[in-house]
Amino acid sequence: MAALFQPFKLKDVTLRNRIGVPPMCQYSAVDGRVTDWHLPHLAGLARGGAGLVVVEATAVSPEGRITPGCTGIWNDELAQAFVPSVRAIKAAGAVPGIQLAHAGRKASANRPWEGDDHIPDGDPRGWQTIAPSAIPFGAHLPKVPQAMTLDDIARVRWDFAAAARRARDVGFEWLELHFAHGYLAQTFFSVHANQRTDAYGGSFENRSRFLLETLAAVREVWPERLPLTVRLGVVEFDGHDEEHLAESIELARRFKAGGLDLLSVSGAFTTPQSQVPWGQPAFLAPIAGRVRREADIPVASAWNLGVPAVAEQVLQDGHMDLVLVGKAHLANPHWPYQAARELGVENPAWVLPAPYAHWLSALR
Ligand SMILES: Cc1cc2nc3c(=O)[nH]c(=O)nc-3n(C[C@H](O)[C@H](O)[C@H](O)COP(=O)(O)O)c2cc1C
Repeated sequence: MAALFQPFKLKDVTLRNRIGVPPMCQYSAVDGRVTDWHLPHLAGLARGGAGLVVVEATAVSPEGRITPGCTGIWNDELAQAFVPSVRAIKAAGAVPGIQLAHAGRKASANRPWEGDDHIPDGDPRGWQTIAPSAIPFGAHLPKVPQAMTLDDIARVRWDFAAAARRARDVGFEWLELHFAHGYLAQTFFSVHANQRTDAYGGSFENRSRFLLETLAAVREVWPERLPLTVRLGVVEFDGHDEEHLAESIELARRFKAGGLDLLSVSGAFTTPQSQVPWGQPAFLAPIAGRVRREADIPVASAWNLGVPAVAEQVLQDGHMDLVLVGKAHLANPHWPYQAARELGVENPAWVLPAPYAHWLSALR
């Protein structure tokens, strides 16, 4: 049997296979609330056979949204709106997860298909961004963020914990904190974006502080029996990758000591100068494997793993415990079934939920 189709147990949760759908923003919410787009989108992904479906980056406060179309969970009503999606994901046999996020200085942007740039200052659709230091990201995201006060830091930490409690209460079973991709938490950890001179900037200890304190606040409210995970950018592709990776591995060890169950290994994306090898198959997989070995923690990872043989190989090579397949799932929500067929699984239809599997089991 292919490694991709082995179950994966983490805490009291068992995924039916090693295929996860990573969070993917749909930019289709209104005032943070999911719309008629989200339920069929998420249900379709779960019906396709993946073991885990993680809901897109969902903001812990209005100012933490990337765009005006991003989902939010900063009050109980917004949380309740996720219930039909949570139930639909479970009904299809997948585990429902959610990624909690604060976009920091990359917030207040236009949707990707409307420019992907910052909403201009003075435009009523936009808002003031915040970050560890008043340093803009760069050319296409030029807004200067407000440097956070200690009160701001405490408030955002509290926002993450309150959001985690709401996610728990509406039935999510897998929680991911978005500490990657140049958003707020990643900028605290980054020497490119954090020039604070207080306890939250400078040394490795200080740059890690916001991330570790936020994890600790969430750990207090998220049930012990359910997986608590972080997505962290462990490399920048900026020519200082060895140093950054070593620091990230040390941070992963501290996350583990603080109660983390799995690290989703990703890119840091805190500077537009990065030379990310976007087109290369599985470009993060060996790095994920190194984090997995050296931090001794279960790992998931994504990026160009959408060819079934490649996804199978990264598991066989021990680079990760769980393969995240993003865009290939948008192209074909039944990607797990396609993978089972390509990998020669004996009865590939059984990757799908019973109402589909029963009728397709005669097909090879
Ligand atoms: C439409 C879209 C939205 C995305 N939104 C998020 C997000 O909300 N949170 C996140 O951590 N990554 C996000 N990503 C990155 C994906 O989770 C994934 O890491 C990336 O697409 C690489 O995997 P792939 O090569 O299988 O597509 C997004 C990617 C896409 C294509």
